[in-house]
Amino acid sequence: MTGSSTEKNIERAREQVRILTDKLGRVPTACVVTFGCQMNARDSEKLTGILIQAGFLLVEEESADFVIYNTCTVRDNANQRVYGRLGVCGGFKKKNPHMKIALCGCMMQEPSVIEKIKTSYRFVDLIFGTHNLYRFPEYLADVLEQDRQIIDIWKEPDKIEEDLPVSRKYPFKSGVNIMFGCNNFCTYCIVPYVRGRERSREPKDIIREIENLASQGVIEVMLLGQNVNSYGKGLEEDISFPALLREIEKIGGIKRIRFMTSHPKDLSDELIETIRDSKKICRHIHLPLQSGSSRILKAMNRCYDKEKYLALAAKIRARIPDVSITTDIIVGFPGETPEDVDETIDVIRMVEYDNAFTFIYSKRTGTPAASMPDQVDDKQAHEQFDRVLAEVQKYAKKQSSRFEGRIMEALVEEVNENDPSLLTGRLSNNVIVHFPGDHSLVGSLINVKLNECRGFYYLGEQV
Ligand code: 5AD
Ligand code: SF4
Repeated sequence: MTGSSTEKNIERAREQVRILTDKLGRVPTACVVTFGCQMNARDSEKLTGILIQAGFLLVEEESADFVIYNTCTVRDNANQRVYGRLGVCGGFKKKNPHMKIALCGCMMQEPSVIEKIKTSYRFVDLIFGTHNLYRFPEYLADVLEQDRQIIDIWKEPDKIEEDLPVSRKYPFKSGVNIMFGCNNFCTYCIVPYVRGRERSREPKDIIREIENLASQGVIEVMLLGQNVNSYGKGLEEDISFPALLREIEKIGGIKRIRFMTSHPKDLSDELIETIRDSKKICRHIHLPLQSGSSRILKAMNRCYDKEKYLALAAKIRARIPDVSITTDIIVGFPGETPEDVDETIDVIRMVEYDNAFTFIYSKRTGTPAASMPDQVDDKQAHEQFDRVLAEVQKYAKKQSSRFEGRIMEALVEEVNENDPSLLTGRLSNNVIVHFPGDHSLVGSLINVKLNECRGFYYLGEQV
């Protein structure tokens, strides 16, 4: 689909929105509900951009005239939440039969999910997957024109669509996809099956997008990929992730560069040096550990062991002293014993993570781990989870307090939700600081003195 057919389809949708406006006596509303990771958040900005261009008024309520759920399937609880919300939304539709309900995202790439929706949630009007999100303008126009269920799921992507309309949540910062999919096949993970093989975007397209964002006032970009360290593989041009970072660094107007996620197996010395030498790359590396037990790491197909991970973390801490290191940990992988969890806790103690997301293993149908013997029972998994969480929190508190009394630069992101006299800013190392200030400062970089550490955030003052 070319840019112009996107426009033609948005015009078709706009015509339907006009008709609906006359019928309802008001502008129809639309609601985008996002589950899951930063990739999905970015995709939702594209969905939102398209809905706004079609003439909808964006709202937060799921009783809107058009509701779309952008789903996640990385763990089963994300799936269950979607079914729950869908049930509630079906109730709204009974009262407002003109309402349209759509589903997209990772969960839709699973055939069993589609079967379940076809039989138990027949009121859903539109379903598409991760590979054809760019066709949303066409589906939207079709579903508004016709009173029939549209389901279109592709097994493979056909291309990377540039130039979709986007509505950003924040005017001053933006996610930027640099690659899609994943080739790593960690044995617990469903992502390679629902997001497809790894594809990198052309550097010139990425640079053009970021230059455009900068011209619109964006000062911080978050480069997104399942494994940014393997950026560039398969492209004609010989370019690595550190080289891409150095190109982005040159773009005037951009003040901060973040990225996520880095797979420890191929985080290079060149990347560490590029971060160290950069004025713009933030002092934060998210380095998923998953487990500290070399035996479990092998079964997970993570391609590193405990020693290699520890050496990498130590090297990063030594070369970039101010850096914060965060991680993901899975507890309860098949065959995991309390002794394996001791190894994970040992790594937490050695690395002293600034923060960590801990998950209980969730069995995903179709992944190798789902059919491994010795699945861990719920009770044991929860007990071990609590042990890991306590350790993680201890170090997160210790680490965040290490900046107390310092003056650091914060990007003011919003007026504090609970106390409107306070602003909320984010430091380069991803730590949050609240401080008194005027709302006009939102979107700017200012120096803040970090007076008091309150666990995971600071209270400070502008200096
Ligand atoms: N069960 C639990 N956690 C998982 N993750 C990925 N797959 C699973 C699963 N099946 C976690 C990993 C990954 C993060 C995004 O989600 O820790 O880094
Ligand atoms: Fe999943 Fe592993 Fe790919 Fe991350 S690197 S998306 S955990 S398969």
